[in-house]
Amino acid sequence: MKGVILAGGLGKRLEPLTRITNKHLLPVYSKPMIYYPLETLVEAGIRDILLVTGGNNAGDFLRLLGNGGEFGLKHINYTYQKGEGGIAEALNLAEHFADNGKIIVILGDNLVEKSIKEQVEKFKAQPEGAKVLLKEVEDPERFGVAEIEEDRLISVEEKPKQPKSNYIVTGIYMYDNQVFDIIKTLEPSGRGELEITDVNNAYIKKGQMTCDILEGWWTDAGTFDSLLRANSLVAGKKKTDVKG
Ligand code: DAU
Repeated sequence: MKGVILAGGLGKRLEPLTRITNKHLLPVYSKPMIYYPLETLVEAGIRDILLVTGGNNAGDFLRLLGNGGEFGLKHINYTYQKGEGGIAEALNLAEHFADNGKIIVILGDNLVEKSIKEQVEKFKAQPEGAKVLLKEVEDPERFGVAEIEEDRLISVEEKPKQPKSNYIVTGIYMYDNQVFDIIKTLEPSGRGELEITDVNNAYIKKGQMTCDILEGWWTDAGTFDSLLRANSLVAGKKKTDVKG
């Protein structure tokens, strides 16, 4: 299965940090942010990876990551998103790369504690459709919020004022090749973006969406508070890893 990392957008919520560099190149404890989703994919056995970047300093990704040798890769594919038309717009740039196969998508500002290998293997065995990974959080209104009934995902609502649960859809998505046809049917949302939540709701409507709960901690790093949280979670993990 191929992997796609989405690292476009202008990172406006982190101004002025993002005025002179790309959000995904900012440090999270001891490494640039982009290292974490890349390592997550490689650890899950994904070797063929496309990085979608955009906004400022896109060339710096190439200088930093090169062909991915540091991560055990032979090659990394790169593409560029003009503007910030949304997560689904960025993903649409991966159509040629996906080549009709299944893909795993991870947002460039998402960090996880534990391996996602098991979920990737489950999705490989799933005949069709999509899989999302959910996490219980204290501030669901910041995210795509899951409505769940008897372990089944009924709908996802993007940044609702009154969340239907504390479970949110993390930025780790697995799709079959229908995803690009679905993206082509989307209209921009109120915030002017093609929403990944609309893609996920389309799969739910088809009855082809599965979900798993992510184990261990998960965080994004796109606001000052979540970036701080990401730094301390990674620092804490380093200390536990050392202690063994
Ligand atoms: O982190 C999980 C959340 O990510 C989900 O729960 C939400 O459903 C989903 O919409 C998204 O919410 P955010 O508002 O936090 O997304 P944000 O605009 O911060 O974008 C997250 C990453 O997606 C960003 O680091 C890079 C990529 N992206 C985003 C946009 C808007 C792109 O590659 N291109 C884009 O145009």
